[in-house]
Amino acid sequence: MRGIILAGGAGTRLHPLTQVISKQLLPVYDKPMVYYPLSTLMLAGIREILLITTPEDSANFVRLLGDGKQWGLSIQYAVQPKPEGLAQAFIIGREFCRGEPVALVLGDNIFHGAGLTTLLYSAAARTSGATVFGYRVHDPQRFGIVEFDATGKVLSVEEKPNAPRSDWALTGLYFFDGRVSDFAAGLKPSRRGELEITALMELYLQRGELQVERLGRGITWFDTGTHEALLDAATFIRLIEQRQKLKIACLEEIALQQGFLSEAQFRGLLATLKQSAYREYLAGLLE
Ligand code: G1P
Repeated sequence: MRGIILAGGAGTRLHPLTQVISKQLLPVYDKPMVYYPLSTLMLAGIREILLITTPEDSANFVRLLGDGKQWGLSIQYAVQPKPEGLAQAFIIGREFCRGEPVALVLGDNIFHGAGLTTLLYSAAARTSGATVFGYRVHDPQRFGIVEFDATGKVLSVEEKPNAPRSDWALTGLYFFDGRVSDFAAGLKPSRRGELEITALMELYLQRGELQVERLGRGITWFDTGTHEALLDAATFIRLIEQRQKLKIACLEEIALQQGFLSEAQFRGLLATLKQSAYREYLAGLLE
């Protein structure tokens, strides 16, 4: 399975914070935001990654993440000239996808919690259909929304409805099979002029091939689209990291755990890092 991180958009809702820096490069406590969605793909076992950014921000992402080899990954880059919808990622990434199953994660989505890796692995193991994740929220108007019937069957998906039919938001993590680029190419722009991710999900739903996993209380999900959400996410990460003495979304640690790096490679990587609390944490992993 291959993975795409979509880190486009002008981030206007966060201006002036995002006037000269991409939203997905802003700090979330001790790491740049993009580390978190990247860690989600790594936890799903994904090593072939395409990062889609705006033309203005691309160089900064390359400076931060490079070709990914340091973490045993391959990271390629593409640009989305205008924010014309999430589903466009599969058109821009068509060659990268090669008709194989692909996971898309939004560059501002943070997932954490017990059992997450198992959920991610089983979604990544499915080779046909689509798997997406539902999460209960207080402010459903802000999100894509999924509606279930009494038996838990999916009835509808809708992008940011004025009158939401449920409080189950669709998170920004999507697993699609190899048909997704073809399906995306056939989409028409919505009323707001975007190729909607929910329209793509509808195509799978109509075929009876959309699976929605409901994330329970063991899992925390943040999107960081507002100032409040951004601060909440940072506070949450700080709290958990300090209580547990474990880091969240530490790419080097995950690479080692997942076997993307051998211990010798990990030691080599450590030697290249500047002295910092982050480096000390990594060194501590070897003790
Ligand atoms: C996007 C999606 C929406 C989803 C949300 C999750 O919205 O369009 O369906 O619920 O991400 O973060 P955005 O935050 O880009 O407005």
